[in-house]
Amino acid sequence: MPRHVAIIMDGNGRWARARGLPRIAGHRQGAEAVRRTVVSGLELGIEYLTIFAFSSENWKRPEREIDDLMGLLRLYLRAEIGELSRQGVRVRFIGDRNRLSRDIRSLIDEAERTTDANQAITLTIALNYGSRQEIVRAVRRLARDVATGALVPEDVDEAMFGRYLDTSEMPDPDLLIRTSGEQRLSNFLLWQSAYTELVYLPTLWPDFEKADLENAVVAFQRRERRYGASSG
Ligand code: FPP
Repeated sequence: MPRHVAIIMDGNGRWARARGLPRIAGHRQGAEAVRRTVVSGLELGIEYLTIFAFSSENWKRPEREIDDLMGLLRLYLRAEIGELSRQGVRVRFIGDRNRLSRDIRSLIDEAERTTDANQAITLTIALNYGSRQEIVRAVRRLARDVATGALVPEDVDEAMFGRYLDTSEMPDPDLLIRTSGEQRLSNFLLWQSAYTELVYLPTLWPDFEKADLENAVVAFQRRERRYGASSG
C-alpha cells in the first residue's frame, strides 16, 4: 500500500458543463468526492492523503468562482471538522496563508489544532499552494538562517532543505493521481515528487470513487520503483 497518496482533483468544471450546470455545482460535487475519498483512504490504510484544493495560480479565475471555492472551503471546514476528528483524521494545510482571508486562516488554525492528536490518517489540504512559491519561501528562510549565522552553507543538503518546505512533517508521496485525463503536475509538489509514481485517470473529480482510488493503487503496485538503480 502506498503510504502517501497525493491527488490533483481536476475536472469539476467539465463535470458541470456536461450537465448544463454552473461551475460551482461541479466544485460542490468535488467537495463530496473529497469526503468519500478520505473515507476510502482510511479504509485502504493510506497514512497520508494530500489534496490540491486551490493553487497559487487559481487567483486568476473569475472573482465569483474564487468566492465560491472559498465559500465551499469555509463550509467544509465548519461542517466536517467534527466528523473528520471522530474518524481519527489529522488535518494539515500547506501553501502560503498570507493571502487567505482572516476567517479562513482562523478556521485552518482551528482545524489543525483540534485534530492534532489524531492518528488514523493525515489529510493535507493544499491551499494557495504552488510548488515554486513554496521553494522560494523555503530559500528565503534558509538564507535568513545563513545570514544570522544559525546555519553555514555547507550544512545544506537535501534532507535539511526538505525541513524548510511546507511538507517537512510528511514523507514524499509514493503515488500521485491526477483526474480528468490531463497529464501535468501544474506546480504541485515538484520537489517532493522526484520519485513519485504518477497515475492519470480519465475520471472527472466529482465522479471519483473508491474503485478509482483502488485502480490507481493497483497501477502503483504493478510498477517497479527503482529510484535510479538498474532493474534487478
Ligand atoms: C479543478 O477543477 C478543481 C479545482 C480548481 C478546485 C478543487 C476544489 C474542490 C474539489 C472542492 C473544494 C475542496 C475542499 C477541500 C472542500 P476545474 O475547475 O479546473 O475543472 P475543469 O478543468 O474541468 O474546468
